[in-house]
Amino acid sequence: ADILVLNGPNLNLLGTREPGVYGATTLEQISQNLVQLAADAGLGLENFQSNAEHLLVERIHQAGQDKVRFIIINPAAFTHTSVALRDALLGVAIPFIEVHLSNVHRREPFRHHSYFSDVAEGVIAGLGPKGYELALTAAIETLARQP
Ligand code: DQA
Repeated sequence: ADILVLNGPNLNLLGTREPGVYGATTLEQISQNLVQLAADAGLGLENFQSNAEHLLVERIHQAGQDKVRFIIINPAAFTHTSVALRDALLGVAIPFIEVHLSNVHRREPFRHHSYFSDVAEGVIAGLGPKGYELALTAAIETLARQP
């Protein structure tokens, strides 16, 4: 795939998980929409969700092998904890956009720090599922500028 979309822990529960914070859309709906939007732009997109940090690290390593060109990642709770995921992204040197459904900056202080933001191409937070679409639009434009 040209683009890999990664979702971290508990995002498999989207749709039923704290709908007041995360909305009613399921991860399956978000994922299928992104596959379609990428296909419309002539690009392949794969989705991967895991609750396990090491599986996300290994999926990022795989993306390096597979020559994935762009990553969109919602690291979920790992945003605030994971040096390992940060290092994996730096290790494969694939540009990425960080996405959060909720506006982490108007939530608890422990959500205000991210291990990803200072090495991301961009960060989108607080726009719900639309954030993934906006990230994909940016990714598609970035890839269109490259041979
Ligand atoms: C989240 C925000 C994180 O703080 C939280 O742990 C999540 C989801 C979001 O998409 O808003 O699981 O990344």
